[in-house]
Amino acid sequence: MRAKELKRKYLEFFREKHHAIIGSASLIPENDPTVLFTTAGMHPLVPFLMGEKHPLGKKLANCQKCIRTGDIDDVGDGSHLTFFEMLGNWSLGDYFKEDAIKWSYEFLTSKKWLDFDPEKLHVTVFAGDEDAPKDTESEKIWLSLGIPQERIYFLPKSDNWWGPAGETGPCGPDTEMFIDTGKEKCGNDCKPGCKCGKYFEIWNDVFMQYNKTREGKYELLKQKNVDTGMGVERTAAMMQGKKNVYEIETFTPIVNKIKELAGITEPSPKQMRALRIITDHLRAATFILAEKRIVPSNLDQGYILRRFIRRSVRYGKQLGIESDFINKVSGVIIDIYKDEYPELEAHREFIFDEFKKEEEKFRKVLDQGLKQFERLGKDGTISGKEAFILFSSYGFPAEMTEELAKEKNLKFNKKEFDEEFEKHQELSRQGAEKKFKGGLSDASYENAKLHTATHLLHKALREVLGDNVRQMGSNITPERLRFDFFHDQKMTPEQIKTVEDKVNAKIKESIPVDKDEMTVDEAHKSGATGLFADRYGEKVSVFTIGHYSKEICMGPHVKNTSELGRFKIVKEEAVAAGVRRIKAVLEKN
Ligand code: ALA
Repeated sequence: MRAKELKRKYLEFFREKHHAIIGSASLIPENDPTVLFTTAGMHPLVPFLMGEKHPLGKKLANCQKCIRTGDIDDVGDGSHLTFFEMLGNWSLGDYFKEDAIKWSYEFLTSKKWLDFDPEKLHVTVFAGDEDAPKDTESEKIWLSLGIPQERIYFLPKSDNWWGPAGETGPCGPDTEMFIDTGKEKCGNDCKPGCKCGKYFEIWNDVFMQYNKTREGKYELLKQKNVDTGMGVERTAAMMQGKKNVYEIETFTPIVNKIKELAGITEPSPKQMRALRIITDHLRAATFILAEKRIVPSNLDQGYILRRFIRRSVRYGKQLGIESDFINKVSGVIIDIYKDEYPELEAHREFIFDEFKKEEEKFRKVLDQGLKQFERLGKDGTISGKEAFILFSSYGFPAEMTEELAKEKNLKFNKKEFDEEFEKHQELSRQGAEKKFKGGLSDASYENAKLHTATHLLHKALREVLGDNVRQMGSNITPERLRFDFFHDQKMTPEQIKTVEDKVNAKIKESIPVDKDEMTVDEAHKSGATGLFADRYGEKVSVFTIGHYSKEICMGPHVKNTSELGRFKIVKEEAVAAGVRRIKAVLEKN
């Protein structure tokens, strides 16, 4: 069964079980500045797991694009990926363990669906600790389905607990499903959870009934939820009888293209690792660029994107590829996924432009950088200063230097590099502040105006469409604002007009915009909307616009609504099932 077929079947199965199918959210979590990428399908659903009403009901399913950089060092083996697709089904206070486990079992083993041999299925359940009891309920359900006791394993929190996605928020014990690949056990202790590759994890049912607080306590949530995640690439590999994900049909054309460009037919293990790293990283980078929100930089997501690209160039070099190759590989990736993810084709040119610029930039200095690196480490160490020079003059991300050092058995102190980096940041920040002393630049003033307008819009939408309207994302350029929110119907022209009128009325009232610093708790107590789970740092800024709007926000904002001009909605459209997008501008009065 091909990956595409697997996805179709999964969504069809859960549609039959009365789930609403929602779209994949963006890879960049817009409402959560502490996490760089969407790591799981539950991530954009946090408010609903905490008790808010979802416009499409209590049972949802989807296929979500995810990026997990925590596993980046393991990429190159047979199963770890940074970018992957995850199928998931959710109960928002509806069904719980019994249905979740029964449906998982039915989908995996029924002839009509995946038809896995039940004999090959092994499951793990939570062993219990001081925070939550042993999960004998899940054990009983598995036994009732015919999984014998010897294929049910009790494991601690480190294995059988999922979440929260950030530092706080919904989480709970889980039960994980593994397929026995038939490989020999690596030892007497070999069991699901062992990394040797005998047991391949394909699905995780999480019973999210706890909220982890800032103090590290686990409180019961208002409702009992289910959050599941099935890795598309891993499950497809198991369906196709492959022992690693790189052999399924969505990977082989990419691997083959790189082999062709390198002129390799029979890769050595070292070359195999390089092929896989490039394949993984360029998939991730292509999907990040396809959203047209992030470009390579030295900050946050842009830095990760840069690392993906530069690491690919370096491993390409290891394979003997010396000229521009990323776009040739990326073109293959786009072709594989463009039907399912139209953003790839829509932004093909943009993707290619960014890749080309970044690859050229890095290629120019890579050889010299590598030469420079060779000169270092005579005393067995690469110092923070040396690593910083490799970074600032030759564009080596610190992690790449770290990796090169490891290959040559040299010591490398990342902390020292970070200190060096901080020092230079401060110097350049001082420089920038001097530059802007004469007032904010035009672009950032336009930005501030649109931020304030976004708060007015948010409030007006809640007044017109109801309190269920919830911000899902916001994006501001100097020209316009973009606001995504949960709502299940197209807005009527009258509703759009009413929202515009309300915002413009507030602008006319010349209301001051006040900023206060407070803790997240205080902010929520004061009735501020904004980020749901407490994920900002200790103190947050709350912007208050008269009695109209109070939101937690990172700003910037103007001082008074009178500065905004005329607010106009230029577009209202659907971006995914249950999610609407508004684009709006501020016109001069
Ligand atoms: N959120 C759970 C996971 O990613 C389902 O494994």
